[in-house]
Amino acid sequence: MRMVDVIDAKRNGGALTAEQIKFFVDGYTAGDIPDYQASALLMAIWFNGMSDEETRNLTMDMLHSGDRLDLSDIPGVKVDKHSTGGVGDKVSIPLAPLVASLGIIVPMISGRGLGHTGGTLDKLEAIPGYTVEIEEEAFKRQLREVGCIIAGATGNIAPADKKIYALRDVTDTVDSIPLIAGSIMSKKIASGTDALVMDVKTGSGAFMKREEDAVALAHALVNIGKGVGMNAMAVISDMNQPLGRAIGNALEIEESIALLKGEGPDDLLDIVLTIGSQMTVMAGKAESLEEARAMLEENIANGKALERFRMMIEAQGGDGRVVDDPTIMPQAKYHIPVSAESDGVIASMRADEMGVASMMLGGGRATKDDKLDYAVGLTLDRKVGDTVKAGDRLLTIHANREDVENVKRLILDNIVIGDHAEPITLIHQVIV
Ligand code: URA
Repeated sequence: MRMVDVIDAKRNGGALTAEQIKFFVDGYTAGDIPDYQASALLMAIWFNGMSDEETRNLTMDMLHSGDRLDLSDIPGVKVDKHSTGGVGDKVSIPLAPLVASLGIIVPMISGRGLGHTGGTLDKLEAIPGYTVEIEEEAFKRQLREVGCIIAGATGNIAPADKKIYALRDVTDTVDSIPLIAGSIMSKKIASGTDALVMDVKTGSGAFMKREEDAVALAHALVNIGKGVGMNAMAVISDMNQPLGRAIGNALEIEESIALLKGEGPDDLLDIVLTIGSQMTVMAGKAESLEEARAMLEENIANGKALERFRMMIEAQGGDGRVVDDPTIMPQAKYHIPVSAESDGVIASMRADEMGVASMMLGGGRATKDDKLDYAVGLTLDRKVGDTVKAGDRLLTIHANREDVENVKRLILDNIVIGDHAEPITLIHQVIV
């Protein structure tokens, strides 16, 4: 088989055979197919999509590119959560220890930043010493001892996704339903979880800008999960403005810690509790979502969730003192305010452009090999619906360079101040 024929079939709108998909996945993972041919195929998939059968084949080939964790010797239902990616989306970071503090096993395999969205692993690496590369035995030991882990798909979990994910990030082929579904579900099936809640984002900061695309992606994810016997469901949540008030790696860890101390922003808390309640019910620890939510709230109030976060960090080699003193993480040299240019109400704040602004400061990658600056990013003083006067501070830029005029301009061009704001609904739908 020749790769050029596989590209040709998809470029011309045809369906790829099971053999063609396997040829691509195996060949690219092994290094036999070069980036330029893989990129061409990814772009053809982006334009022409894939049928359910092709998507399933892609997922299973990516899954079979590596090992599958067997967690059956760890007692209890294993429950995981995965987001399709957003700006300021640090939900997984407080969620895993919070849910684990109820005695639920949370084996979380996460990813790095993709496009304008931040990655959970990148954020956690802002904590001094924290390692996301964990071998299978240590992974299982940590689940037994701590109850939760957030790690990369290391060792040999879905190596095909690792390579394809990095290539998609820099070839503008991220926002494709079959590619996202294959990427997420190959890792999730490989991680040995019994149950999974997907947080499918929709809006300007999401890969799925339109709600109908988010719903289609959610169905694809849930169907692939159910097809392999996983208890899978999805929440469609809003990403028209950044989630919470912090964007940037260390800044988002700091906000996660605040949340676990009961001091988190309302929107972030709401989504953490909504998804956490679903996970708690799936794990059989509560009869109803209301009961689950109350249990989670209690473990924030009594400090057990924060303590579990400290344990998780220390188990992964990180400095657990960060939960008492987030300033042990890298801190930016300059704090530059961005002020409103007119009076009114914040009508919109483009989440994707706020993500790009953080990336321009060094908080995200523009090419595969870029090194991150963990300290930089944005903290928002105002969000959609807030009333402002000209000169009021909208947000603060955390930078390690003094000249951030281009970032400031991008931000101001993407915050609309008008005479009213449409209300934002955070949780759009639940798909089971
Ligand atoms: N998260 C993933 O793991 N993969 C994607 O493709 C998008 C979000």
